[in-house]
Amino acid sequence: MTIAIYPGSFDPITNGHLDILKSGSEIFDKVIIAVSYNINKTGFLTVDERIDLIKKSVAHLKNVEIDFFNGLTAEYAKNKGANILLRGLRTSCDFEYELQLSQTNNALNDELKTVFLIAKPEYSFISSSMVKEIFYSNGDISKFVPSSVYEYLKSKHDI
Ligand code: COA
Repeated sequence: MTIAIYPGSFDPITNGHLDILKSGSEIFDKVIIAVSYNINKTGFLTVDERIDLIKKSVAHLKNVEIDFFNGLTAEYAKNKGANILLRGLRTSCDFEYELQLSQTNNALNDELKTVFLIAKPEYSFISSSMVKEIFYSNGDISKFVPSSVYEYLKSKHDI
C-alpha cells in the first residue's frame, strides 16, 4: 500500500490544493492531507477551523485522510509508514523553495521522496495569501476556494 503525505499550512485550503489532492488520490492508495505549521507564517484560521474546512471539502475523496502534526514532516511521515510527500508546483517560482524543502526532508529521512504534481493553469496563480488578501478587501473569493470555505469566511465577515 503506497501512502503519500500532502503537508501544508492550508490556511485556508484552496481549489488549487484540492486539484493536487484529487490527482494524488488517483495515483496513491492513500493520501494523508496533513495540516502543519510553517514557522515563517502567522495563522489566519485556527488549526481546528482549517481541519474542519478540509473535511468538508474532501468528503468525496474516499482514500483521503485528514490529520494535523507538530514537528518535522520527515518524522511524521516515518511514523505514518509513508515514504512519499506530495507537493504541487504552480510555476517555476515554486521550484527553488520546493527543491530545498524536498532535499531537507530527504536528508532527515532518506526513505522519503517528494512527488511533484503540476498545477492546472487555472490554479497556477492561486495561493492562500491571495485568498486572504481578497477576503480582507471584501472581494469575491468564490472562484478560488471550495464552497465550504467560501461560506465559512463569508459568515466570519458578517459577524
Ligand atoms: N494551489 C494553491 N496554492 C498552493 C498550491 C496549489 N497547488 N501549492 C502551493 N500553494 C500555496 C499555498 O497556498 C501557500 O500559500 P501561502 O504562502 O500564501 O500560504 C504556499 O503555496 C505554500 O504553502 P504550503 O504548501 O501550505 O506550504 P508551506 O510552505 O506553508 O508549509 C510545510 C510547508 C508545513 C509542509 C513545511 O513548513 C513543513 O514541513 N513544516 C514542518 C517542519 C518541517 O519539517 N520543516 C521542513 C524542514 S525545514
